[in-house]
Amino acid sequence: MAATVCFVILVLLVANTVGIRIARQVYEVTDPDDWASASFDCPRECFCPPSFPTALYCENRGLKEIPSIPSRIWYLYLENNLIKTIPEKPFVNATQLRWINLNKNKITNYGIERGALSQLKKLLFLFLEDNELEEVPAPLPRSLEQLQLARNKVSRIPQGTFSNLENLTLLDLQHNKLLDNAFQRDTFKGLKNLIQLNMAQNALRNMPPRLPANTMQLFLDNNSIERIPENYFNVIPKVAFLRLNYNKLSDAGLRTSGFDVSSILDLQLSHNRLTKVPRISAHLEHLHLDHNRIRSVNSSLMCPPFHAMAGMHDSFSDGPRLRYLRLDGNEIKPPIPMDLMVCFRLLQYVVI
Ligand SMILES: *[C@@H]1O[C@H](CO)[C@@H](O)[C@H](O)[C@H]1NC(C)=O
Ligand SMILES: *[C@@H]1O[C@H](CO)[C@@H](O)[C@H](O)[C@H]1NC(C)=O
Ligand SMILES: *[C@@H]1O[C@H](CO)[C@@H](O)[C@H](O)[C@H]1NC(C)=O
Ligand SMILES: *[C@@H]1O[C@H](CO)[C@@H](O)[C@H](O)[C@H]1NC(C)=O
Repeated sequence: MAATVCFVILVLLVANTVGIRIARQVYEVTDPDDWASASFDCPRECFCPPSFPTALYCENRGLKEIPSIPSRIWYLYLENNLIKTIPEKPFVNATQLRWINLNKNKITNYGIERGALSQLKKLLFLFLEDNELEEVPAPLPRSLEQLQLARNKVSRIPQGTFSNLENLTLLDLQHNKLLDNAFQRDTFKGLKNLIQLNMAQNALRNMPPRLPANTMQLFLDNNSIERIPENYFNVIPKVAFLRLNYNKLSDAGLRTSGFDVSSILDLQLSHNRLTKVPRISAHLEHLHLDHNRIRSVNSSLMCPPFHAMAGMHDSFSDGPRLRYLRLDGNEIKPPIPMDLMVCFRLLQYVVI
């Protein structure tokens, strides 16, 4: 049990590294001259904390419209209201905005005026989760680092939407209505710094094509993906966290090399249709294969080839790095192959 808890914490820490880096950039010192203005320009509907003059709190108030945003504001909280539109006007003076939270509103694409978002030249974080968007909104400010669009109805990505977003590190499109045809040849072109792409819980049948080269975290759980194309991972040579839980992957849908990709550290393939353990690389640390149709585990077949460093006889430090393995919910008959440990000498946690 202790091993499970440690594992969960580790993954959260690693998965959050993007957020940590950006949060550090955002909390900078503000000019004390702005303090005096905090009291008189506070919109009636909102709260302006005197100790935090760059923040404007207008959340949970049943608002139907966005109030005029004073120029000193960096952080704008508008979540959980009844807002349908994002016009340009309330933002004309809000040139310092870094962060907008508009989660849990009723915003549609028709309600977003064309220049409303792109005029915010310093915006880093845009939260639009739980709204009624059918497309990724465009144009977006080029400064953007995180775009959170979970739980909308997004099925379209207008051409060129991401082409200038060179600083975007995180794109969250989970729980939307994306089909394979949402992607064009150049959809992701320009996302030079994208680290995390989350498209879990959509309606994809294929892996998204031509992903940005720096992608490290690719989350595609709860789609209907049946196969991984040959050479798929060549264009994303840094991918380290790959989640494909709850898809329709079968042995026939895997490349001959399986998931033998040396950058992958955490591979999640739970709730698929695999009958065999796919090939893995010696660098893999966490492997989730629970709830498939695997009948047997042959330790010598599963053991990835690894190369001892020249001159070293005991290659313990060079051996396969697998530490965590889930095989429960399969059709594996006892006895549990204890010779797994002969290959995976670092294995700390196994569930069969
Ligand atoms: C923007 O600032 C100008 C000058 O302070 C002010 O007159 C105007 O009402 C402001 N507009 C909005 C929408 O806040
Ligand atoms: C991207 O980030 C870098 C480093 O923080 C910054 O210098 C640059 O201006 C940003 N680009 C845009 C388009 O905002
Ligand atoms: C996928 O679906 C399962 C079963 O409905 C659910 O438990 C899980 O939270 C979902 N995961 C994601 C990332 O959407
Ligand atoms: C495991 O695979 C190896 C290599 O194909 C084979 O020689 C061996 O008999 C298999 N072991 C079992 C228990 O099936």
